[in-house]
Amino acid sequence: MEIKIVQTTSPKKKPDYSNLGFGNYFTDHMFLMNYTEGRGWHDARIVPYAPLEIDPAAMVLHYAQEIFEGLKAYHTADGRTLLFRPWDNYERLNISAERLCIPPIDVELAVTATKKLVELDKSWIPTAPGTSLYIRPFIFATDPHVGVHASHTYLFVIILSPVSAYYASGLNPVSIMIENHDVRAVRGGMGYTKTGGNYAASLRAGERAAKEGFSQVLWLDGVERRYIEEVGAMNVFFKINGKVVTPSLDSGSILSGITRRSCIALLKDWGVEVEERLLPVDELIEAASNGSLEEAWGSGTAAVISPIGLLAYDGERYTINKGEIGPLSQRLYDQLTGIQWGREPDKFGWVTEV
Ligand code: PLP
Ligand code: COI
Repeated sequence: MEIKIVQTTSPKKKPDYSNLGFGNYFTDHMFLMNYTEGRGWHDARIVPYAPLEIDPAAMVLHYAQEIFEGLKAYHTADGRTLLFRPWDNYERLNISAERLCIPPIDVELAVTATKKLVELDKSWIPTAPGTSLYIRPFIFATDPHVGVHASHTYLFVIILSPVSAYYASGLNPVSIMIENHDVRAVRGGMGYTKTGGNYAASLRAGERAAKEGFSQVLWLDGVERRYIEEVGAMNVFFKINGKVVTPSLDSGSILSGITRRSCIALLKDWGVEVEERLLPVDELIEAASNGSLEEAWGSGTAAVISPIGLLAYDGERYTINKGEIGPLSQRLYDQLTGIQWGREPDKFGWVTEV
């Protein structure tokens, strides 16, 4: 399918790149593509960034039939633009699509569209260390209809946002509260997808945690509230007695993070033992109490590698590695960002040039 391009005639003023934060600014263009039942996906186009017109009865506004992705474009020291594993993101978008009865997209077309859009808005990619261009693809139901069924029409959109660190603390360890009241996802639900509803379910606990000074919530499984799942915007890893443990994906209630799978590949490559298994919160708390919990970190596109310096559970607080970044978290951060910014050899073939 051809991608039509209409360039803006009034480029926006660039933001203050020394104070970007995360997700506050958007570039000059966006990608759009429509789906109509019987016709498939059509009218792929890049147009000036602008508000979308949407019918008040559009099904997404009522029943949340929506999915999204998150990936980044990186500016290298030698002036190239790299994307990290974009095919994985669009394959995951199609996994989310299947769960929410949204028609799948053509992965190759989506990667091509992403590259064209990033190329066009290349001047927006920040260059300071740790900054990048966050790419947000999403699809939502547009049928003007208030009965509950899958929509017959959809809009696929890609927008771009120059960003710095997701957490204000940057690479300084974050404090995380283990949530034992609200749950985010259950077996048979949508936890393994990237859909807005999962994040809506997380807001109340997140707000409560923020009031107490925590960056995010660590979720327990939705049935027994006993097994560690993931954090609001990242997967989690724990180094216990020299071994790395991360929750397995079998429950279907955890997102299969692309950073998570990259961490596992790097750790295995370094000869570090990694266990993907059920991790009871009691085991984690015991390890945190007796000193065998050596390091903890979260992994995600936005969060990169975020060391966890403090865990709170049931009113108690547990400091990890004296609240400092541990050597393995640091090594993962250095290697992963080294590959993403083109400083380290890409032996796994994870990056692709725009
Ligand atoms: N878990 C959740 C709930 C997320 O929102 C994210 C972010 O995308 C992740 C995990 C990490 O996934 P990825 O590494 O693919 O960004
Ligand atoms: C990401 O890491 O891409 C995310 O989607 C996390 C968050 C901004 C929702």
